[in-house]
Amino acid sequence: MSDEREAGVKRTNQDFSRFDQVNKVQTYRLSESSLEEFDDETVIRTCDMADYFQNGAEGQRLFSQALGEAMEDIGFAVLINHGVDAKLFDRAEAAVLSFFETIGEKERQPYLAQRHGSVNQGYFPIKNTTIIHPDLVEGWVFCRRAFDIDGRDGFDAQRFWPRPEFEPVFRELIQAEEALILPIMQSILQYLGCARSLYDDKLTRTNFGFRLNYYPALDKLAEAPAGGRMLGHEDVDLFTFLPAPSVEGLQVLNRRNMKWIRLNAPPGSIILNTGDYMQRISNDRLPSTTHRVSQPRQPEAMGRPRVSFPMAIYVWEDEVLEVLPGLGEAKYPPVSAISFHTSTTAKYYGDSYAVP
Ligand SMILES: [Fe+2]
Repeated sequence: MSDEREAGVKRTNQDFSRFDQVNKVQTYRLSESSLEEFDDETVIRTCDMADYFQNGAEGQRLFSQALGEAMEDIGFAVLINHGVDAKLFDRAEAAVLSFFETIGEKERQPYLAQRHGSVNQGYFPIKNTTIIHPDLVEGWVFCRRAFDIDGRDGFDAQRFWPRPEFEPVFRELIQAEEALILPIMQSILQYLGCARSLYDDKLTRTNFGFRLNYYPALDKLAEAPAGGRMLGHEDVDLFTFLPAPSVEGLQVLNRRNMKWIRLNAPPGSIILNTGDYMQRISNDRLPSTTHRVSQPRQPEAMGRPRVSFPMAIYVWEDEVLEVLPGLGEAKYPPVSAISFHTSTTAKYYGDSYAVP
């Protein structure tokens, strides 16, 4: 384990600000500490997609307003009545546990993460999610190319999946969640006063990073944990869909008071948050949101693993990220998605990750 990575427990995000491709004024420690304050009052807004799906143009307007306000304020929302069958979440949760608990380290090695386009895809061993903090999580990122969709000829699941039988299980979930990409983007664009369909082409069959996270039981780790389960960070994407995890830990930074909000969303809901792409194209109006995964508070939870499976929505690497029309003088020039994405995530993977 590199000392540099272990030292990350004491670092702040601003120690790495040279990687940011959008303006981030908040300062926070990468790891949780005993010095921090919590915000137990602020409630993350619930946005009801029944309005969007069932109540015509007026319903879409109502949903757009509610979602846009949540995104502009805290940057997180809880989606309900989104149409994704909760059974898919239960199946995925069981599959993530099975995936990490039955596939041995040797079988994982051929799949160590590598950059394809913008995205670092494949397996991340424990404490290796980033080079700047020892995250207590085993992760695996699957992008669009890892799924047998779009009628591709010669799809070879074994290239991406050590056990190909897992692919159809997760494929069903990502296809159900994919159906939400345009409704969410159209609603955000409507809120910002742009044409709703502006991103329809870019986001039809777009790329994504579907990440399996397995946080081992903390009482089974080789050494006592020094920091949190996952470092404080902002997602690089447009937005992220996170089916509500069943074990606590997700915390959201409230930039108004710089306190952390513990976010425990109801089972079956989807947590939505904005990322760096969105902050860039919205000219800072919708900020990229800071969040992390902490250790559990209850002693009995130390003996339980935690899983999550967020889906990060990207544009393809050859697209350009440009400030949307009508949002005032652009604070940022147009930038290629691959340059933006890799220059940002070089913070986690090293300078050589960046594609100029
Ligand atoms: Fe995240």
